[in-house]
Amino acid sequence: MRTTVGIIGAGPAGLLLARLLRNAGIDSVVLESRDRAYVERRQRAGILEQGTADVLRAAGAGERMDREGLRHDGIELRFERERHRVDFPASTGGSSVLVYAQTEVCKDLIALQLKEGGPLLFGAEALAVEGALTDRPRIRFRREGHEGHDGDEGDDGHEDVLDCDYVVGCDGFRGVARKAVPAGLSHVFERTYPFGWLGILADVAPSHDELVYARHDRGFALLSMRSPAVSRLYLQVPEGTEAGEWADEEIWDELERRFETGDAWRLERGPVTSKSVTPMRSYVHEPMRYGRLFLAGDAAHIVPPTGAKGLNLAVGDVVTFARALTHLGDTGSAERLDAYSETCLRRVWQAERFSYDMTTLLHRAPGATAFDDRIQLARLRRVATSRAAETDLAEGYTGFPLE
Ligand code: FAD
Ligand code: DHB
Repeated sequence: MRTTVGIIGAGPAGLLLARLLRNAGIDSVVLESRDRAYVERRQRAGILEQGTADVLRAAGAGERMDREGLRHDGIELRFERERHRVDFPASTGGSSVLVYAQTEVCKDLIALQLKEGGPLLFGAEALAVEGALTDRPRIRFRREGHEGHDGDEGDDGHEDVLDCDYVVGCDGFRGVARKAVPAGLSHVFERTYPFGWLGILADVAPSHDELVYARHDRGFALLSMRSPAVSRLYLQVPEGTEAGEWADEEIWDELERRFETGDAWRLERGPVTSKSVTPMRSYVHEPMRYGRLFLAGDAAHIVPPTGAKGLNLAVGDVVTFARALTHLGDTGSAERLDAYSETCLRRVWQAERFSYDMTTLLHRAPGATAFDDRIQLARLRRVATSRAAETDLAEGYTGFPLE
């Protein structure tokens, strides 16, 4: 098989890239190791920056998002039983965010790709990227076999090769693309946090019409949503916690404690339909390019989820790549493609900084001292009382511009 751009991974990065390239008249093939149902159901991010929503709309993938997504003009910070609203449009000159789940973004992009895009192969696991320094890089991959029935003998799967002009590794943090960069050229910047998030989905209307980020002596809690009838809630839990260690009622009791206010606000409970734990990590791999191999999204960087930046960063990377390749086609100049890594990394590091700030602002680290607590509360009070500090948070949350 041969194509112009070989894309590994059908998460938001890979799927959107295929769409952007198709719209620019550039062909691509997407290889995805899992099946379609798995990709469409994997519970992850929920917040789209305005710039991300604009990109999806311009790519022709915004129709359902505009019908079903919920526009949010602010968030609530909750600490010491007080509530403080951060107003996005007022402090950023008009920006807002959209609540529209990653699962839905992926469903929309998969449907479009299968209808009018190039090949999207599920059950196709990339094994290695080879020849990144040549002008014909290739992806070695394995296609899943299928069980035989009704006279069909089935097969055990087989190995295949996708020859490309460019390879984009959109295969997430545990993918194979990054491994093609020689160790001597890889620079990794990393921090892990001694806690994780226990996340639940619950069939109950959200107890507040905007997201609530709560700092409490017992740890962080977040109230989010998927729709007017479905709540998404998170609790800071110790590193290594398994979701099964928490009974549903214990989760609600703990959420209630951490969200407690001095007024009449109440947390509504409902049936829990999903429960999982997400570890927290900051990670950047530099450079994001090696020859004709480009890394995008979680394959190159991870942020702790507190600032809701992961999916939005992935979108920024693939937009940068698609624009650079289009520029090469239009002008013959590889200047933008050559600058891909530096261009992406400037934005990536702003998002890393923001996510780190939000994480340390709101979580209680094990072993935190009384001094640490006082500093954390002073930082929160600063956001609540200084227009400049509030604007800084609002600008970061609604998104850093693409260059
Ligand atoms: P991914 O979504 O990881 O997609 C990579 C794709 O590549 C996957 O479909 C995978 O199956 C496929 N793949 C991997 N290896 C191969 C291979 N060898 N061959 C072929 N295909 C391969 N962000 C937030 O903003 N808020 C959140 O609440 C949040 N929660 C998260 C929870 C979890 C458990 C995780 C892991 C991430 C979470 N994130 C969250 C981050 C956000 O979901 C990611 O930043 C986003 O998914 C990045 O998109 P991506 O396309 O780069 O990678
Ligand atoms: C969600 C996740 C986040 O990391 C965040 O900061 C806000 C919302 C969510 O899954 O809804």
